[in-house]
Amino acid sequence: MNDNNHRDKPGPETAPGPDPVAVNRMFGRIAGRYDLVNHLLTGGVDLAWRRALVRAVAAARPSRVVDLATGSGDVAFALRRALPPEVEILGLDFCRPMLDEAEKKKRRRQPCPNLNFVLGDVLDLPMEAGTADAATISFGLRNLTDRGRGLAEMRRILKKGTGRLYVLEFTQPARWIRPFYFPYLRHILPRLAGRISGDESAYRYLNTSIEGFPPAERISAEIEAAGFHHVRARAMTGSIVTLHQARA
Ligand SMILES: C[S@@+](CC[C@H](N)C(=O)[O-])C[C@H]1O[C@@H](n2cnc3c(N)ncnc32)[C@H](O)[C@@H]1O
Repeated sequence: MNDNNHRDKPGPETAPGPDPVAVNRMFGRIAGRYDLVNHLLTGGVDLAWRRALVRAVAAARPSRVVDLATGSGDVAFALRRALPPEVEILGLDFCRPMLDEAEKKKRRRQPCPNLNFVLGDVLDLPMEAGTADAATISFGLRNLTDRGRGLAEMRRILKKGTGRLYVLEFTQPARWIRPFYFPYLRHILPRLAGRISGDESAYRYLNTSIEGFPPAERISAEIEAAGFHHVRARAMTGSIVTLHQARA
């Protein structure tokens, strides 16, 4: 099947995602406190989720990695630490204030010439087809207006046959964890995060976007429908988060 077929194919029906202008503005408002809120409200478990993603990428020994919806760049920096210095890493995001946070962190660290950040849209990637060995997207897929289009773009930029996709995303949690998880997500998290970041509405969006997000099996089906193969999903922390992997 040729690639254009996959780009045009709707795959499993996906409800339209959030408004991109609103998403961009929202991340712009919370950019300065984004990392702090993440680490505090997950008790640092978010670092372990990102580490699992980075370990999986490192095991495949890529030469060129693109971290999509990189935000303040935590995954990109973790990749920089885990991969040899000659590996090229590009972090991409469409929110300037989030990228400014990533650039600030870069200036504070040892020089890393092969780690760069670029402003861009996951739905229209400014990259040549078949040029990346790995594409990562951590807590970004949920925020895309059109997941099918985003996944098709990811597949387009990956090297056919060898390129790999890694998606880290919230999913629907296991039954046993729900009585603790949902009250936390609905009532405690938005208030606490609102106090720290000064923007409670952003964390109400977090809650509704997580609760409204499809289960992991459905995301696997969407990845497959975008033309990927060898699709696997690994649930973590009571299925709060899933690491999806696939080959282009
Ligand atoms: C929850 S943050 C995740 C940041 C980072 N990957 C992490 O693991 O912490 C979601 C990011 O997705 C970005 N984003 C959402 N839609 C995007 C799009 N269409 N193109 C590029 N970036 C996008 C937002 O600007 C935001 O920085």
